[in-house]
Amino acid sequence: MNIMVIGGGGREHAVVKSLKKSKRCEKIWCLPGNGGIAADCACVPIQATDLDGVVAFAKEHAPDFAVVTPDDPLCMGLVDRLEAIGVPCFGPRANAAIIEGSKVFSKELMQKYGIPTAKSRAFTSPEAALAYLKTTTYPAVVKADGLALGKGVRIVRDSAEAETAVREMMVEKVFGESGARVLIEEFLEGPEVSVLAFTDGNTIVPMVSSMDHKRAWDGDEGPNTGGMGTVAPNPYYTKEIAERCMREIFLPTVAAMHAEGRTFRGCLYFGLMLTGEGPKVIEYNCRFGDPETQVVLPLLESDLLEIMLAVRAGTLRAADVKFSQKSACCVVLASRGYPKSYKMGYEISLPVTGEEIYIAGAKREGERLLTAGGRVLGAVATAEDLATAVKNAYALAGRIGFENAYMRSDIGARALRAKPRA
Ligand code: AMP
Ligand code: GLY
Repeated sequence: MNIMVIGGGGREHAVVKSLKKSKRCEKIWCLPGNGGIAADCACVPIQATDLDGVVAFAKEHAPDFAVVTPDDPLCMGLVDRLEAIGVPCFGPRANAAIIEGSKVFSKELMQKYGIPTAKSRAFTSPEAALAYLKTTTYPAVVKADGLALGKGVRIVRDSAEAETAVREMMVEKVFGESGARVLIEEFLEGPEVSVLAFTDGNTIVPMVSSMDHKRAWDGDEGPNTGGMGTVAPNPYYTKEIAERCMREIFLPTVAAMHAEGRTFRGCLYFGLMLTGEGPKVIEYNCRFGDPETQVVLPLLESDLLEIMLAVRAGTLRAADVKFSQKSACCVVLASRGYPKSYKMGYEISLPVTGEEIYIAGAKREGERLLTAGGRVLGAVATAEDLATAVKNAYALAGRIGFENAYMRSDIGARALRAKPRA
């Protein structure tokens, strides 16, 4: 089969590498891909959000299947557009991608169907939001309704901080229309777990759990980033908790979306908080996580393409979805200064090929690979146990060089301190 993969980060590199292992995969185009992904498949310089460009490419090259992974094109309706010209896709249609595209929508869905989540109120006017802030308890969480490059969530310690957040989102509109509505919600505490799940709208099959490290600096300090590293499985996510999540969160979510006429097909991402009252949903994403995918897919023993085709066909129940019992760790190498300002254009020296390196922000110039983003790449290792995976991922990261490189030194440390899985 000839497959089109839409996107161009470390996540897409992991998807491409996994798809390539399938016997049925003949050719992959990645739009736009990046300088590192170009070592694994053809990269075509069409942006993921250039829906007309992607559709025109698909008309010309007639791919057998398309995999759409980033949030923006999913919410903009790329899957609808491609399916309309006869290209079957892995990924939700826009009416289901809204589960990530609008936090007000997903909150109302959870409230309507009794899915456990933080208590929350939605506001469409800054005056009402500001008045409410005087009465609520702190810390609290202020969230922009729409997509905001992962930056639309503010944890505020008092009403002054909360007011600033509301004014920035609703009045100054730093996230544009994404901040036209905001949610003000209860602050939840507990370990966070990411669970990605395949679903065909009826059956849901969770993948191995993982733990993201969103803050820029060691000890979970510093600004939020797109993710500085991940481990899988997440040791806090016990078998008992997994069963409870299936009953109280995963199955009800899939059923709720179907009942709303918004059947979700693709990868549904559950951002969970394991609170004293049980697991609660912090957020849904309508796609694979980045950099969760870089630790989850290397542990997948089954054929990713077959699973994706089954999701599209509605036959996931019969599909073979097996994960290894091993552990994996991804250490992200970023440009120093990320997520604020940083310099790019430095040459990257990679160890010999065959290593698990997923390139996120790099461009090719002749034979050279140059840094071209905040997060540059992820160094991944899998091993029998988490301690070894962490050690080996750091050993691999240490063999990769570019000027201005920055990484956290404690990816996996919290997971290693956690109680073992039941
Ligand atoms: P999101 O952009 O929705 O992934 O949120 C970013 C981060 O904010 C999450 O990973 C959590 O660490 C944190 N967060 C979001 N909602 C809450 C909440 N209700 N209570 C505590 N932390 C939260
Ligand atoms: N790693 C979090 C996300 O992909 O949204």
